[in-house]
Amino acid sequence: MSSQIDHLLDETRRFPPSDEFVAQSVSSPALYESAANDREAFWGEQSRDLLDWHRPFTQVLDWSTPPFAKWFDDGELNVAYNCLDRHVEAGNGDRVALHWEGEPGDSRSITYAELTEEVKRVANVLEGLGVGHGDRVAIYLPMIPEAVASMLAVARVGAIHSVVFGGFSADSLRSRIDDAGAKLVITADGGYRKGRVSALKPAVDQALADRGEGEQQTVEHVLVVRRGENEVEWHEGRDLWWHDVVPAASAEHTALAFPAENPLFILYTSGTTGKPKGILHTSGGYLTQAAYSHKYVFDLHPETDVYWCTADIGWITGHSYVTYGPLANGATQVIYEGTPDAPHPGRWWEIIEKYRVSIFYTAPTAIRSFMKIGRSVPAGFDLSSLRLLGSVGEPINPEAWIWYRDVIGAGTTPIVDTWWQTETGAIMVSALPGVTSTKPGSAQVPLPGISIDVVDESGVEVGTGNGGLLVVTEPWPSMLRGIWGDPERYRETYWEKFEKQGFYFAGDGARLDADGDLWLLGRVDDVMNVSGHRLSTAEIESSLVAHEATAEAAVVGASDETTGQAVVAFVIIKESYLSAHDPAGLAQQLRVWVGEQIGAIARPRDVYIVGELPKTRSGKIMRRLLRDVAEGREVGDTTTLADTAVMSIISAQVK
Ligand code: WT7
Repeated sequence: MSSQIDHLLDETRRFPPSDEFVAQSVSSPALYESAANDREAFWGEQSRDLLDWHRPFTQVLDWSTPPFAKWFDDGELNVAYNCLDRHVEAGNGDRVALHWEGEPGDSRSITYAELTEEVKRVANVLEGLGVGHGDRVAIYLPMIPEAVASMLAVARVGAIHSVVFGGFSADSLRSRIDDAGAKLVITADGGYRKGRVSALKPAVDQALADRGEGEQQTVEHVLVVRRGENEVEWHEGRDLWWHDVVPAASAEHTALAFPAENPLFILYTSGTTGKPKGILHTSGGYLTQAAYSHKYVFDLHPETDVYWCTADIGWITGHSYVTYGPLANGATQVIYEGTPDAPHPGRWWEIIEKYRVSIFYTAPTAIRSFMKIGRSVPAGFDLSSLRLLGSVGEPINPEAWIWYRDVIGAGTTPIVDTWWQTETGAIMVSALPGVTSTKPGSAQVPLPGISIDVVDESGVEVGTGNGGLLVVTEPWPSMLRGIWGDPERYRETYWEKFEKQGFYFAGDGARLDADGDLWLLGRVDDVMNVSGHRLSTAEIESSLVAHEATAEAAVVGASDETTGQAVVAFVIIKESYLSAHDPAGLAQQLRVWVGEQIGAIARPRDVYIVGELPKTRSGKIMRRLLRDVAEGREVGDTTTLADTAVMSIISAQVK
């Protein structure tokens, strides 16, 4: 790893923005100066500039009880009003908000006026079902306009959404519904993926079935969008068709003002333990930084740009850079339902050509899979509308960065590599395309108003040229406000490590190069990053041991050419099972099992059946050694193992 990083730090290519880009850019070096002058005043100005407050705030930040921050606390606003009505009132009702492209090729373009009307109807439906201020609503939908409308309608009535990615299993959905105590689930019959309808409603039915003793069923209704036209089971009294109730609802709805710290959403993400954390975000600060970062990082000109972020709303990127940031800024954007290769490998490029997309935001894993297919596919489309490219989710290697710029960006577009997390709510580290000279592979610099440092284990700054842990040294507007129902876990996970200094610990390793630019080096905890999605080793291990064949399991993230990391499992099978089953069949069964338990993204790339696992004398599994095996390397230092012979046995079994 370290030799690879030294090699990266030798990267000398620099790409300053062109004069034309600088001339039209919405950002300027003055942003950095003004933020450095008075950070809180800067955020106050941004918030007033970018949002409409029903009641203006008088205090920017209350940090009197860290780590619990309050931003713009005495201000009041309505998040949906800021994303919708005010654009219509300003005369931009005819501007397209969403160009939606369905996977089979059907499409709809929806203006701000139309989206506002739809959201008002949905808000009335929600209130009619008794969903209001503080209630939780689970959203389990494909990438269709109703997904965005649902999020905004929930926000409009002051309720809290919990979007669950449509690729998650019934079990994962169930635990998220129960943890949040959702009153309503919004879903669809199904959605299109890879040329077929993938059903969603059966997973909801299963997630809501059989609450045992002591388990409470909080869900009263299920609102179902018809998309897949697939057969669904119907629970009279509980289930409602969207097309029956939404068009029939009134299109009049006044957006009430809610306090800035009103919870907006919960989004579950994997941590170092088996149980996903419900990351809580609130309204005023979150929307401020989502809108601010979207405007300046993507150099947004809402009158002329067509923006496309390929993320699903089931992830934080879809929250901040599909729903909230772009719509707060009055942008025109593309949303796409399906996979990049359906029905042909040029689908994304075809969409860029069709809508003349000018700003494109995607993940390194997608870029690397396009690289593998080759430049002839994008070369078949007119990509000349693109003027800015973004990357998110994991480090982008310089080779992929250069390919992205040359092949997709015609060798001219700036590339912004954006570092942030579900917890940070919005982009924290990125170049500003009209200001920064970009550097392939480096996420570069904190945004104006954001304070980041790289420190050693004791919290001391490492200085340029050195590596350490990435920390955020000052509170920021879109920071998580906690973990749903577990304030202690919030404190422990993010703040305990650098309690003395009051730093937020992100869980990422990083290095500062001689120019002071940041290089992200991956997670330092037991969290994996597969295709830009976060997975916990503990969560997959507990799913593996829940299978009756498994005695013990250890999971590692091994580097993978396309997905960044891949899930590799080492499993000990119970004697009785091993004698009666074929090991290859068992490994395959376990892969499928994990996919069913958690979701397809968690399915291990490899399952190795082994006789033992490497443990220290105190019984801790040494994943570092298993990673060596999974990545085909010489096994590292084994001296702390209880039984030093174990690794050669495992290596032999894996071969
Ligand atoms: C983790 C957060 C932020 C939205 C998508 C993922 C990694 C994210 C980058 C980047 C290097 C990155 C980090 C981080 N990560 N962006 N540009 N360069 N690493 O959100 O699921 O909360 O995961 O993704 O390891 O901690 P998430």
